[in-house]
Amino acid sequence: MTVTGIFDSTFQQQLGELLEARRDVRSFKSDSISDEVVAELVAMTRFSPSVGYSQPWRFVRVDSPQRREAVEASFKVASADALASYSGERAALYARLKLAGFRDAPVHLAVFSDDETDTGKGLGSKTMPETLAYSTVMAIYTLWLAARARGIGLGWISILDPGTVERALDVPEGWRFIAYLCLGYPATYENTPELQRVGWENFDARSTHLTVR
Ligand SMILES: Cc1cc2nc3c(=O)[nH]c(=O)nc-3n(C[C@H](O)[C@H](O)[C@H](O)COP(=O)(O)O)c2cc1C
Repeated sequence: MTVTGIFDSTFQQQLGELLEARRDVRSFKSDSISDEVVAELVAMTRFSPSVGYSQPWRFVRVDSPQRREAVEASFKVASADALASYSGERAALYARLKLAGFRDAPVHLAVFSDDETDTGKGLGSKTMPETLAYSTVMAIYTLWLAARARGIGLGWISILDPGTVERALDVPEGWRFIAYLCLGYPATYENTPELQRVGWENFDARSTHLTVR
């Protein structure tokens, strides 16, 4: 593929549609995703920006039922703790939310950031070590968009104890847990975020989060 770096208006419009249609997906069809497609999605993360060109992201494909169960168990504990922190209507609403699609997602990817990588030689991350984790989040977003462009949905799960996940997956020292991703073909395609649809959070669409100083 020759990359010209020139994109016409049709592409610009379609990119906008992709960004708008991305969605966090928590309910999946049972259809599998081929190993080649999973590998392709992970490979596309190499185009992501990273501090000092460090590419600190580490993707772990979790196939083992025992390891999946250990991660889901951590989710159940963390989710029960979260429920206990709310009261009244908010607690009732939380109890109805589906915040993970562990059981029906055919592909599980745990994502870590290698805090001890020498790649990039510390450029940029010496003053701001957290930029390694930021870089890994960039890679996740790349994978998310690439997946959605192929009709594949992704759900990001953060209601987990990082230490429990690191132990369950037996990852090397220095790998910091960033995200647990469930991937599969969405049961439905939604236009609006689920948390907006169920009334958990209403976002003012006019807000741009931009101020000028
Ligand atoms: C850092 C991060 C952590 C998230 N953790 C969870 C989670 O644990 N469970 C969940 O259901 N969604 C999680 N999400 C998805 C958000 O709820 C979702 O992105 C948001 O509600 C907006 O919806 P949309 O992604 O469909 O536009 C997470 C998203 C991000 C970026």
